[in-house]
Amino acid sequence: MSRFYITTPIYYINAEPHLGHAYTTMVADAVARSRRLMGQDVFFLTGTDEHGQKVERAAKKAGMDTPAFADVIASRYRDLFKALNISNDDFIRTTEPRHIAASQEIWRRVRERGYLYKASYEGWYCTVDELFVPESQLIDGSRCPTCGSTVERLSEESYFFKLSEFQQPLLDHYASHPEFITPEIRRNEMTAFVSAGLRDLSVSRTSFKWGIPVPEDPAHVMYVWFDALTNYITAAGFPGDQARFDHYWPADVHLMGKEIVRQHAVYWPAFLMAAGLPLPRRVIGHGWWLMNEAKMSKSLGNVVQPQGYVDRFGVDALRYFVMREMVVGQDANFADETFLTRYNSDLANDLGNVVSRVTTMVERYCGGVVPSHSPDAQSDADRELVRQAQQTIDVAKREAEAFDFSVALRTVWDLMSALNKFIVIREPWVLAKEPALRGELETTLYNAADIVRIIAALIEPVMPSTTERIRKMLGIPAETWVDLKPATLRPGTKLGSIEALFPRMEHTVDELRKMADATSQPASAQTPATSAQPQAPPPVQSPAADAKITIDDFMKVELRTAKVLAAEKVPNSKKLIKLTIDVGSERRTLVAGIAEAYEPEQLVGRTIVMVFNLKPAKLMGIESNGMVLAASPDGGKPTLVGFDIDVPPGTRVR
Ligand code: MSP
Repeated sequence: MSRFYITTPIYYINAEPHLGHAYTTMVADAVARSRRLMGQDVFFLTGTDEHGQKVERAAKKAGMDTPAFADVIASRYRDLFKALNISNDDFIRTTEPRHIAASQEIWRRVRERGYLYKASYEGWYCTVDELFVPESQLIDGSRCPTCGSTVERLSEESYFFKLSEFQQPLLDHYASHPEFITPEIRRNEMTAFVSAGLRDLSVSRTSFKWGIPVPEDPAHVMYVWFDALTNYITAAGFPGDQARFDHYWPADVHLMGKEIVRQHAVYWPAFLMAAGLPLPRRVIGHGWWLMNEAKMSKSLGNVVQPQGYVDRFGVDALRYFVMREMVVGQDANFADETFLTRYNSDLANDLGNVVSRVTTMVERYCGGVVPSHSPDAQSDADRELVRQAQQTIDVAKREAEAFDFSVALRTVWDLMSALNKFIVIREPWVLAKEPALRGELETTLYNAADIVRIIAALIEPVMPSTTERIRKMLGIPAETWVDLKPATLRPGTKLGSIEALFPRMEHTVDELRKMADATSQPASAQTPATSAQPQAPPPVQSPAADAKITIDDFMKVELRTAKVLAAEKVPNSKKLIKLTIDVGSERRTLVAGIAEAYEPEQLVGRTIVMVFNLKPAKLMGIESNGMVLAASPDGGKPTLVGFDIDVPPGTRVR
């Protein structure tokens, strides 16, 4: 069995994950799943990049010690990946002992082979991108050309890596392995970058401690990219497990966004050559998700939180949208309008309808059992449909292999529309009226059900839960792509119960946005201190629009009055105020996001309404016990809920 090793970048933990991070991982997941379906022995790695000054500073800002902060954000990534149904085989954290050992070992090898030297470094550094920036590339003399943030002057002793010695070896490698960097535009960029000349790279720092100590010189910690890139060999068993390393290394694919192709296609192969280790086979740079024409990023505050879309539309709808909408290598705009259109037209109308149409007809005309089929009863339309199904299997496999799920999905949707047309042409409801045409009816429905089976199989890498649901409806077990071909559905198979796969969303984007605003966290948000808040909340961050709750559900939320005893602004936060409150039975601390609307003095003595039985959460390092209720108008400031007359603290509100 051939093996296939695919990686995502490891994610910085200075901030909460957003759709951009989720995207790289969803693409890698679809690739990994498709390779497993093709019978390969897949190793799929993702994880978190935890060292560096940026993380140290973010932890400080959150009022936490760095390892505890790292644990919190790393678990946010794990949770998100779980919610996105990511099938990674390993999740690496660069603070793990196995990784520290691997980084120190590759460092030693590079040093022993003469590619490291000590000198003093004086220059500009961008902490956001963790990059050294040549003065000539600065924007307005002080800003990073990649992300626009202000660079810092560094002047310290540093180890240097002899990157300059790898100019020719890298160019030779690109020339002899044209598939090494894809798409072509990235290969051209990298070739131009390397051809322009490479300067030695500063690879250690002495001005902070949150990093992997340089072996035999612990005053230095490794440059975060030196440590981070090494994660790919750590997880493959380097240096302790040689058998595993021989099996999985070199990686088949390093997948990432286009802005970090340089680190993967220039630095990383140079480090590996210097250490005498084999190079990865392929580096693929995908495009960016844009919002309002700009790269979605925490620093611009224009990010989409994937969870809201998962909650409202289901995980597969999000996975489908991003895989269908973005052609690998190109940028794509994330717009709620497009999302809703794709949901209603591709998922509710096309996929949902065709599956329910076919299964309902098998139910109605064949007693819920897959009928048999006979060659004599095949019409031209049947033969044409089966031919197209075979062709779709071939194209979808080929495109998935070429990482182009957008095209793969398009051909599957073409097959869906062919199936719909086939049903219209064959008119099973007419055939059903004529007992003499029973053979034709059964063959028609057999072929239709068989094509539904093939569609379910082909969407599996992108929409694994939907595949499972369709298979349950058809009453069939899982199958791989190895022998996937038409006409293998077993006649006599008993269908399971039929369900609506993607109920149509009747609300407009505006309505959805309003509902999301109305139900989104009000003043005292349970949002972690570091989270990047979208400027325009996506329409989906509320529970299902028309889901009504029972009185019992409502009563689970204990609303109570409380009196504010003391109030103070939370340092380094524009929004948060720390309240000391009397809840009748005890005193509590609560952190509320109302600083933009109230001065602390205005709050003391006031009676508020709070969620009394909310789990505690840490905001900017302060434990908040409860949540204040406030009206939070669209784009406006919160107004606290209050009373006409005085109410004692601790009174239940219902
Ligand atoms: N820690 C480094 C990678 C080290 S790998 C040895 C890093 N981390 S990151 O958290 O900033 O980003 C990781 C991934 O998220 C990249 O693939 C990046 O392209 C992706 N995205 C972040 N914003 C994105 C978009 N707006 N659109 C698409 N992907 C984007 O870089």
